[in-house]
Amino acid sequence: MTLLSITDLDVFYGKAQALHGVSLDVTAGEIVAIIGPNGAGKSTLLDSILGLTKRQGSITFDGQDITRMAAAKIVRLGIGYAPERGHLFPFMGVRENLLVGAYRKRDEIDANLAKVFGLFPRLEERQKQESATQSGGERQMLSLGRALMSSPKLLIIDEPTMGLAPRVCQEIAAVIRDLNQQTGLTVVVSEQNVNFAMSLAGQVYLLETGRIREKGTPEDLRQKLDIAETYFGA
Ligand SMILES: Nc1ncnc2c1ncn2[C@@H]1O[C@H](COP(=O)(O)OP(=O)(O)O)[C@@H](O)[C@H]1O
Ligand SMILES: [Mg+2]
Repeated sequence: MTLLSITDLDVFYGKAQALHGVSLDVTAGEIVAIIGPNGAGKSTLLDSILGLTKRQGSITFDGQDITRMAAAKIVRLGIGYAPERGHLFPFMGVRENLLVGAYRKRDEIDANLAKVFGLFPRLEERQKQESATQSGGERQMLSLGRALMSSPKLLIIDEPTMGLAPRVCQEIAAVIRDLNQQTGLTVVVSEQNVNFAMSLAGQVYLLETGRIREKGTPEDLRQKLDIAETYFGA
């Protein structure tokens, strides 16, 4: 079943066009990665799914047209968003930041808090710690946790490994993989870290200067492109 479908999406910042005819399909239960260099349009694409850009084209989620829908309503339909750099409230505590992501009924909030603390025990140990004093990895975990507080069917994560050490990237990857395999959560993740994306995703889209240049399984993409050369200058 197609959970998310984007067709011919054009996005504009004033007169500048950031995305050109982007189409992308996400099947329920899969992990889709969007890779591409800085400025390719990854954040713009993810922001557009949440209704946060000036756009043309069509976006459907779970059988509903969400192209013109307001962000709050899109979140309520079941899309959780962990934006670039987390966008956390720095002077609020861990628990308060998590509660910002929750609009559910009281009992569901408690169940979701327990779920998030199960995934990230460190957040439970430091519930009152201000986000500003957390490590980069802890902030990324808090951002993921906050997105999960809305009981999403689809989790969208913008560059989760940005600025993190390799060991922390592996921890984040393990949590995303577990969520997908154990709860069937569908995930769309953007990354400049090609190895991280390839190790997680079943389908990968390469975005360059606002256009989808290639798509396929990680194996397909490795064959189609010399990604190592393009991205690491190897
Ligand atoms: N708020 C904005 N106003 C104007 N231009 C923007 C804005 N955000 C992004 N852009 C431009 O849109 C393009 C895509 O940016 P972005 O989606 O942030 O790429 P990525 O996330 O892949 O690094 C870039 O050329 C960027 O400069
Ligand atoms: Mg970005």
